[in-house]
Amino acid sequence: MIRINENYTKLKASYLFADIAKRVTAFQQANPDKRIIRMGIGDVTEPLPEACIDAFHRGVDEMAKRESFRGYGPEQGYAFLREAIAKHDFQARGCAVEADEIFVSDGAKCDCGNIQEIFAGDIRIAVPDPVYPVYVDTNVMAGRTGPNTGGRYTGLVYLECTKENDYVPALPTEPVDLIYLCYPNNPTGAVATAPQLRQWVDYARAHKSIILFDAAYEAFVRDPAIPRSIYEIPGAREVAIEFRSFSKTAGFTGTRCGFIVVPKELKAWDDAGNAHSVHALWNRRHSTKFNGVSYPVQRAAEAVFTPAGQAQTKQLTDFYLANAAIIRAAMEKLGLACIGGDNAPYIWINTGRDSWEFFDLLLNNAGVVCTPGAGFGKCGEGYIRLSAFNSRANVEEAMERVRSVLS
Ligand code: MLT
Repeated sequence: MIRINENYTKLKASYLFADIAKRVTAFQQANPDKRIIRMGIGDVTEPLPEACIDAFHRGVDEMAKRESFRGYGPEQGYAFLREAIAKHDFQARGCAVEADEIFVSDGAKCDCGNIQEIFAGDIRIAVPDPVYPVYVDTNVMAGRTGPNTGGRYTGLVYLECTKENDYVPALPTEPVDLIYLCYPNNPTGAVATAPQLRQWVDYARAHKSIILFDAAYEAFVRDPAIPRSIYEIPGAREVAIEFRSFSKTAGFTGTRCGFIVVPKELKAWDDAGNAHSVHALWNRRHSTKFNGVSYPVQRAAEAVFTPAGQAQTKQLTDFYLANAAIIRAAMEKLGLACIGGDNAPYIWINTGRDSWEFFDLLLNNAGVVCTPGAGFGKCGEGYIRLSAFNSRANVEEAMERVRSVLS
């Protein structure tokens, strides 16, 4: 009799966005004539930038000819893409990141989920609350969290992100080894200032901890004082791994490409107290379990860094930020307090009611899908998240529908 990984029984029945999709499908089946507007999952709606499409086509054409055909590529990503990332995303902004510290992947969700594998089973993990569920669920699967009692895992340290702390958590009062941070934040849309991030980097250096910094939404930062990378903070190379994605920056949710940065200085220790290079460990894991992102996709991602690609991706993120401004203004006009939407594509709205109840209210009466804040953790109760990834017409219609239901 084959036995299962019992840790899976500690998970919530389904992944948050799968749960929402199930409810929405049931509603649509019961109301086939209603046109639903989806502002729940942060999935892009606008086509890929022209520069990416052209490069994508050229990559496919190369694969069609014997002389330019390519089989397996380097697991870590082609040098052309790693070099473009290092130069434009980091070195040009004063961050000392080298091309061989970048590992190209099929997206930040997989990287955020996989990274925990290289660390010990009994380390102490700190996660924000509210939290992108992948950080928690992958540690549950690995057996690091203990059981869930009253909506929280007994073995995790929860870093509460609330209105009182501007959604940037205080340092933990007990020592932690692995710290997940995400800025601009999913789900709250909050950003962290350089002094706030410095506190975390200093903490990690003092405690020999590692920060897993999810910067998937950095392309939405418009305030020049807000860091776009953890490596803008002195000392971060010794204690931080950064996750990035082309999904939201350039509309790659269906195309799939992201990367992580693992600096060569980063160390973790074995049971005997010997230091190991995290870069070497990740390289070992990545090259064993991953065979690289397809060549045309990497060419399309490289095109993001051309002058045309930079202009077009800026236009794309500006477009979604303009949606965010419309959503936030509409919600505030209804008297609901909001954050986010100015340097992030998410708006976090205090509904003052049970968040699943509010989800049902919007779905049943307005045909609008949001994400209930409680799905992201205890501190999300009472809130909903609206995503700005949509067409302008849908955003405007959704806000009109919500207004007529709530006013
Ligand atoms: C979200 O809606 O939180 C994101 O789309 C999730 C993701 O990027 O995986």
